Amino acid sequence: MFNTTAWNRIRYGLYAPVYDLVAERAFRGARRMALGQVTWQPGMRVLLVGAGTGLDLPWLPRDVELHATDLSPAMVRRLGQRAEALGRDVQAEIMDAERLDYPDDHFDVVVMHLILAVMPDPARGLAEARRVLKPDGQLCVMDKFQADDRPAGLARRGLNALTSAIATDITRQARPLLEAADFVIEQDTPVMMGSLFRALLARPA
Ligand SMILES: C[S@@+](CC[C@H](N)C(=O)[O-])C[C@H]1O[C@@H](n2cnc3c(N)ncnc32)[C@H](O)[C@@H]1O
Repeated sequence: MFNTTAWNRIRYGLYAPVYDLVAERAFRGARRMALGQVTWQPGMRVLLVGAGTGLDLPWLPRDVELHATDLSPAMVRRLGQRAEALGRDVQAEIMDAERLDYPDDHFDVVVMHLILAVMPDPARGLAEARRVLKPDGQLCVMDKFQADDRPAGLARRGLNALTSAIATDITRQARPLLEAADFVIEQDTPVMMGSLFRALLARPA
């Protein structure tokens, strides 16, 4: 399988100039539904992991402290431009989701939109999210997942060799991943293309 962090850094650098054309309108409803499942409070410290060009920014409350990370410098640059255009103060950093440079128990909310199906080791990414979340924190996930009750079949796994190299993994299962990372799922809502894309709200167990 050709899905490595080094390759993701290169390909998302190439995708950055056209990312909004592909993802802005297509995922607008799904990301709003996902963020709508979070219980927001003024002053919360919020981390966007694999934040891309910052398409979540318009849908986040204005009275929270925003931090955003991404592997790709080109994505982080565009996120900075979007934050400025929106008049949002965002601490944006180039950072690998598998090695977050934040202390334990630091964030009230961690947002992982369209990243768990992209990164080579989602279990490691979730372990990091769990570590930096406060014990009463909330994890907001939106992504495409294989159904929890049946692993991907042969055809899907074959196709995945291609999709995971150029776009996204299509075999990952949300519940097993989140539960193995010590999260309890509180909400699980199909948000796009039937139940392929789901919005999950989870808390540390
Ligand atoms: C499909 S895009 C999603 C972007 C954004 N979250 C959104 O909802 O539009 C995946 C993003 O994850 C980033 N990414 C991939 N692997 C990563 C990693 N290991 N650590 C941090 N970001 C990563 C890519 O650079 C890209 O910006």
